[in-house]
Amino acid sequence: MRHKQTVLIIDYGSQYTQLIARRIREQSVYSEILPHSVKTDEIIQRSPTAVVLSGGPDSVYAEGAPVLDSAIMEMGIPVLGICYGFGLLMTYDGGVVKANGQREYGFAELSVENGSKLFSGVTDKTQVWMSHGDAVDELPENWSVLARSGNGVLAAAERDGGVVLGTQFHPEVIHTTEGKQILSNFLFNVAGCKKDWTPASFVTSTVEELRDTLGDKRVLCAVSGGVDSAVMAKLIYEAIGDQLRCIFVDHGLLRKNEPDYIQERLKESLGFPIEYHNFSDDFLSKLNGVTDPEEKRSIIGEQFIRSFESAALTGGDFKFLAQGTLYPDVIESGGVWGTADVIKSHHNVGGLPEDIGFKLIEPLRELFKDEVREVGKELGLPPDVLGRHPFPGPGLGVRIIGEITEERVEILQEADHIFIEALKVHGIYDEIWQAFAVLVPVKTVGVMGDERTYANLIALRAVTSVDGMTADWYRMPENVLSEVSNKIVNSVAGVNRVVYDVSSKPPSTIEWE
Ligand code: XMP
Repeated sequence: MRHKQTVLIIDYGSQYTQLIARRIREQSVYSEILPHSVKTDEIIQRSPTAVVLSGGPDSVYAEGAPVLDSAIMEMGIPVLGICYGFGLLMTYDGGVVKANGQREYGFAELSVENGSKLFSGVTDKTQVWMSHGDAVDELPENWSVLARSGNGVLAAAERDGGVVLGTQFHPEVIHTTEGKQILSNFLFNVAGCKKDWTPASFVTSTVEELRDTLGDKRVLCAVSGGVDSAVMAKLIYEAIGDQLRCIFVDHGLLRKNEPDYIQERLKESLGFPIEYHNFSDDFLSKLNGVTDPEEKRSIIGEQFIRSFESAALTGGDFKFLAQGTLYPDVIESGGVWGTADVIKSHHNVGGLPEDIGFKLIEPLRELFKDEVREVGKELGLPPDVLGRHPFPGPGLGVRIIGEITEERVEILQEADHIFIEALKVHGIYDEIWQAFAVLVPVKTVGVMGDERTYANLIALRAVTSVDGMTADWYRMPENVLSEVSNKIVNSVAGVNRVVYDVSSKPPSTIEWE
């Protein structure tokens, strides 16, 4: 998409880099992350309004540590270096950074010494979040101190002229109490950004761009029932109307009643037709006997494409296929970094076969999940459609641990349905980022009436999260757990035990496979 202004974030490997992007976008300014290894041309091409240099795990003085591309400094635009990024600015201008024995991890009190633009409106003594082993030992001549932390560490400084600045602490982290104000000062007081990244501006420019790219061509778009594909379909419909053909592929690994939801509630909310295609036999027969999670994903990914191709055989010529890829998918699948470890190859980026008979369009590629919901609201989609929990493309396929059979799909559908309905009845569905049941390939002994049973184990998982990248297990009220457990054991044939998953991500992941 074309952006009037972009704040570029150069990533030096900090765990907080995505957070910087989110914090900037929350202030209605578009920001994009590029790896530190990016070619200079790519930076210049984007003609950024400002640049933020992220933190990182290395020491700037270590051999082989990533360096600062001098082109950034030569552009003469505002630059904010955070932690490692601050160290880079120091070394670039001839200062000295050292491990000075004052490692700081966690909260620190900041004393603002010099009322510069960066600290405008920030209290003189404010709490910040530190995470560093190095500190500035000698400030370059043309720099001045703005703030120090409680133990005297130089915590913020600026170069003469006030457009190149650095902080040793992390303003993007929630524990930096006035971090939002500090970032806002950088964006608006120092860099003169305008608030032009809004759901409305995204819709207008994406619709324009889609019209330009697609012309009178037709687009095939698969909706899954989830938020992303619903918002994407609506966006494309805004751009090209009936040139959009929306299909729903049933892979036989959906939640109970999902086909009805899509054909009734979703269709009504979107306001255009959705064709139903049932390919469950094809998917299930290809998955027969397969137990490896990545193999399941790749079979399902491939089968999806074959289903789209088969659906496209009727109803005219389709050159384009729409995909609901989001920004974190691009990052997690190594699309931005090229080197990031692939933990799970999410089918909507990493698991597609190479010989696709379509050109892909990915209109949500730049958005974080919460931004998709905002865009959906802008497009007039109702809260129940936008508030749905995420559901993975491979569906119950990665929640039936081990072999997938029709009987096991049915057991999981029933148990999962009981769980999700209870969350809705108890009014806690919206507090949870994602909840689901998992069928574990373990049989345990039980007793029902006077009879010994030897039956399946169901695990319940519910997590809170902001974007699915990290997650905490949801503190589920005892009465809900007890009600759900009883109901599942009493009414789902073949299940005699229920457990609740109390793991966070990391070190676990949200899905079990
Ligand atoms: P994990 O399990 O990696 O999940 O912590 C993070 C989020 O991604 C979803 N997920 C997937 N989505 N295809 C998808 O479209 C997949 O293969 C896949 N695997 C996980 C998961 O449901 C959670 O929201």
